[in-house]
Parts: sequence; structure tokens; C-alpha cells
Amino acid sequence: MASDAVIRELTAAVQRSPEAVELRLHLVDLLIQQGSVTEALTHCSAALAQDASNAAALNLLQRCTAALATGSAPEAPAVRPNAEFNWSAAEEEVSDIIGPAFVDGAAETVDGEGAADFDVVRRSDVTLADVAGMEAVKQRLEVSLLGPIRNPELMRAYKVNARGGLLMYGPPGCGKTYLARAVAGELGANFYAVGIADVLQHWLGDSERALARIFDTARRNAPCVLFFDEVDALGQRRAALSNSSGLRVVVNALLAELDTATSSNDGVYVLAATNMPWDVDPALRRPGRFDRMIFVGLPDTEARAAIVRMNLRDRPVERIDPASVAKRTDGFSGADIAHVCDTATQLAMAASLRAGEVRPVRMSDVDAALLQIRPSAGPWFDTARNVVEFANGDGTYDELANYLRRKKMR
Ligand SMILES: Nc1ncnc2c1ncn2[C@@H]1O[C@H](COP(=O)(O)OP(=O)(O)O)[C@@H](O)[C@H]1O
Ligand SMILES: [Mg+2]
Repeated sequence: MASDAVIRELTAAVQRSPEAVELRLHLVDLLIQQGSVTEALTHCSAALAQDASNAAALNLLQRCTAALATGSAPEAPAVRPNAEFNWSAAEEEVSDIIGPAFVDGAAETVDGEGAADFDVVRRSDVTLADVAGMEAVKQRLEVSLLGPIRNPELMRAYKVNARGGLLMYGPPGCGKTYLARAVAGELGANFYAVGIADVLQHWLGDSERALARIFDTARRNAPCVLFFDEVDALGQRRAALSNSSGLRVVVNALLAELDTATSSNDGVYVLAATNMPWDVDPALRRPGRFDRMIFVGLPDTEARAAIVRMNLRDRPVERIDPASVAKRTDGFSGADIAHVCDTATQLAMAASLRAGEVRPVRMSDVDAALLQIRPSAGPWFDTARNVVEFANGDGTYDELANYLRRKKMR
């Protein structure tokens, strides 16, 4: 009999994908076996409401009513309705017939010296080659960041210094953080991710010392990149909502460190990312600080196909056509496409569970997933249009404006 955990996960999966009749019927089957007949009945009628002639559903309905009539089935404890779909529990259930769906290649955080101060990305398996498409962005990172770091002598010979940092901005889920991980992969030990949230949470009283230590470590390991993700967390608007004077101190400490680091030409490069550049403290964007902006837009057709391939690479798949998925996902972010792939996998896995044998992810699963998932960047572009229209007097957002015009979004 299926464990409570599996039933919980399936229930959560059904809640997240209410259209997935097969998945729901599998849950009904397990619920009847477990004796939760009324619950089974509820799901059974939901399935029949979607597909009144579904033979399996009708069969299950019969089993429900029979069980209710004999009163033989004891009621089991209620399921927890809001549990997240737990892949590991479900995978365990089918471990003998299906390989692991995920291999975690994420960057690791080093324990030990210096680790308490900020996240040190020791190893990132992602390199720029893993970032699909985005040629223009990659080239700018190569020229402004990677090239100079790989050739410090050249930098000295040309008397070029590391003054000024790069700020990546764009809609959520389009690869800014992922690009930073790729830069980390390219640079190995010379990449430091600074957790702004950590600095804010743990060091509010002593942020100068915390930041000084971070920059110190960076200088000792130069040439290197310091990466600040979601820098809008330091912005004025957020400040208004929280302890703004404390935040001010952090921002000032950061500004002071940035100014010294970049003016002393000691090979500390700074990189930052945000979904909301308009919320970033303007002081952070002045010359010598994060003064160059790079727009990271939605993935193009080619990138979308590659993202599909990448996301399904380690899963059992059959006759998936990435180009066709790419064609139908214009406007989707990388994260949206990853979500489509996850959902398709989930549907195939539910079918595998039902059948008791591996059933690879097929285009029909992707089609079903595409019916459920809408692109998520709409609201971001609404804001972006307004910014370009009313707040681009100084040309800060020209790259974004050109993008919107090219895409006929303005
Ligand atoms: N160009 C891309 N190539 C491959 N994967 C991508 C790309 N863009 C986005 N993704 C996927 O989308 C996920 C979310 O991207 P992320 O970097 O977190 O977005 P952002 O930081 O811009 O909000 C990534 O983990 C990655 O799986
Ligand atoms: Mg991010």
C-alpha cells in the first residue's frame, strides 16, 4: 500500500495540476486502498466533471460506492492539503524503475575560514557554455570582466583599471543569477557571492566591519569578482518599509568600500544583478560603482530550445522536439520553460506510477504542461514600459527601450 507521504505528495500535485485527470485517478485508487473513501469520492467526481465518460473514473466510482455501502473501509487521517510536491519521496517509490530526475550541480558553499562572513562559491559546474543563447550579454561579460581577469598583465600594460562595476538587469527568471554562476564557473576560486540578505540580517549593527572583511578577502585573492545579487534590497523604497537608518549605514559602508576597491585598482571587479534597477539606490549607480548596465532579456527561440534540452537532459525522454517547444513559448522566461519541463516530467511520472513501469516524458506531456503555464514576465514589462516612457530622461534605460521597440512591445 502507498505510504501517507506518497498520498500527500500526490494530493499536492493534483492541487497544482487540477487538469491532470490521470494523476487524480491514481490518487483516487490509492485513497480507496487506504480506506479514505469519501476523499476518494470527491476526487473521483472532480475527474468525472472534467471527463464524464472516463472508463477508469467510472470504475473507480463504482469501487467507492461499493466500499461506502459495505462500510468496510475505515477512514484514514485527513491529508495535508498544502504540502509541496516532494520529488524525493515520489522518486523513492519508483526508484527501481526510474533513474534520478535531478542531479544537483549547484555551487557549493565552503565551510570554514571566512565562510561565516559571506558565501564563497567554491565550485560551480555551470560555465558560460551552459548558458543558452544570450550572445551579446556573454560577450560583454567576456570583454569587461573575464578577459581582464584572465590577463592581468595586459591590464597593467594598458594602464586599464577595474574602475566601475557591471549591473545586470532584466525580467525575473531570465538567467541573471545563472549567468553569475557561470562567471563563477569560469573563474573558480576568484569569485565571491556576497549575500546582501546575510549582511542585512546578521550584521546590521556592524555592517562596516562585515563589508570591510569581505572586501579584504577579495583583495587578498585578486584578481577576483565580487557578486551582489538582488541589489535592489538595498534600495530606498525597501528602506522605507524597514529599518531605514540601519540600511543607510550598510549602503554607506558599501559605497565606501566600492570607492576604495575600484579606485585603488587592486583587481577587485564588482558585478551585481537586479530585477528592479529602478529600485536600486541611485548612489550605487554613480560613476566608479555599478555604473555600467547590461540588459538581460527574454530568451530567444534558439535559447528556449536549448533551455528545453538542458532541463530534460537528465530525464527519461522520448521524441521531444525542442524547436517546436521553443516556437510555442515566445514570451516565456527561462524559469517559465524550466517550469514547463518540470510539469511535463511530473505528468509522465504520475503515469509511470500508475502503470508501474517507466513511461518517458513525451511531447503529449509537454503539450499538457503548456496548457497550464503562462509566461510570467508580463507585469515586469508593464513596469519597464512605464520607466522607459517617463523615467528615462538621462538615457539610463536606452538598451531596454531599444529592446522593447525591437520586440514591438512599445
Ligand atoms: N539562458 C539560459 N540558459 C539556460 N538556462 C536558463 C537561461 N535563462 C534562464 N535559465 C533557467 O532559468 C532559471 C532561473 O534563472 P535565474 O538566473 O534565477 O533568473 P534571474 O536571476 O534573472 O531571475 C535558471 O536556474 C536556469 O535554469
Ligand atoms: Mg536572480
